[in-house]
Amino acid sequence: MQYRTLGDGDRALEVSTLCLGTMHLGTRTDERTSFAILDRFLEAGGTFLDTANNYNAWGAGHGRDSEDLVGRWLADRGVRGHVRVATKLGAAKKDPALPLSNTPPTNFQGLGADVVAREAHESLRHLGVDRIDVLYGHVDDRETPLAETVGAFGKLQAEGVVGLSGISNVALWRVVEAREEALRQGVPPYAVVQQQLTYAYPTPEVDRHSWASPELLDYAASTGVPGRPSLAVVAYSPLLQGAYVRADKPLFGGYDHPTTHARVRVLHEVAAELGATPNQVALAWLLGGAVPVVPVVGAGSVEQLDEILGAADLVLEPEVRARLDAV
Ligand SMILES: NC(=O)c1ccc[n+]([C@@H]2O[C@H](COP(=O)([O-])OP(=O)(O)OC[C@H]3O[C@@H](n4cnc5c(N)ncnc54)[C@H](OP(=O)(O)O)[C@@H]3O)[C@@H](O)[C@H]2O)c1
Repeated sequence: MQYRTLGDGDRALEVSTLCLGTMHLGTRTDERTSFAILDRFLEAGGTFLDTANNYNAWGAGHGRDSEDLVGRWLADRGVRGHVRVATKLGAAKKDPALPLSNTPPTNFQGLGADVVAREAHESLRHLGVDRIDVLYGHVDDRETPLAETVGAFGKLQAEGVVGLSGISNVALWRVVEAREEALRQGVPPYAVVQQQLTYAYPTPEVDRHSWASPELLDYAASTGVPGRPSLAVVAYSPLLQGAYVRADKPLFGGYDHPTTHARVRVLHEVAAELGATPNQVALAWLLGGAVPVVPVVGAGSVEQLDEILGAADLVLEPEVRARLDAV
């Protein structure tokens, strides 16, 4: 397992470069299997967990199932001190009687100051911790003034209950404006941005704000210098939810186009030549890129996780990367 530092100065946080997503733990994945997955991740040196205040209200859960499960596991194993926990708020249900949707009307609670304060304290309670290591806005909220959201995250950091702040599913210009607003207010700017990123690229769309674009990676690479505090990129759905290797997992959300099919073919060829698996090559491609990112991987079993962990030390030589990049 490799490690890297998020954030700067006295807020700097060391995390494993593989982050374990817990979206389905406690709902689709039963408690026994979930605990076994978390145990194995920790045993392999993994220290970074990702959850949210709405996992998994998209499925069978009430929305705090994953936070509750992570909280029970941390308490049962007594490992809080060894693990960094990231959670998110803002995309839980505003009206509990209505479903959530990714398209308007979304029914998202948004990132108003009251929501940020209330939901963060609820997350502390559900996780059973006194500090959230990374707190993200789950989805950008353009209805709330940016200064209000930035101030609300800054207040939680000043109270000491949040380490680093971050944002997810957001346009780059909004990240930059929010960080500049934070510097004006004298509060720590977003240090982490969580977007979808994998070896395949989605079809470009003007309003696709969930993707880690090349511009975002370029901006992240330009940070960590005086006047521009560091910004790390965390990549969700790095395995395309299993679609690289499984017929039962169709390509989704703009990924089903000829270039993806060509990329998947080369991914399989390279994997066979290296004696690795396509999933491992896809993760190694992300981990070893010119702008390294932190993949947030999901696993439904210990066996899946073991395969994922095999990517942690897989190095792609420059000629192999060039071949993968050329497609
Ligand atoms: N910020 C956001 O808006 C956002 C959005 C989505 C996800 N996330 C975070 O990112 C995490 C991962 O997301 P994801 O589940 O979409 O990502 P993913 O890592 O691309 O997909 C994980 C799924 O792929 C399948 N899989 C994993 N390893 C496999 C293997 N070795 N062989 C075959 N199939 C395998 C499993 O599906 P089965 O369980 O069906 O077998 C697993 O649940 C989530 O848990 C969450 O923490 C964040």
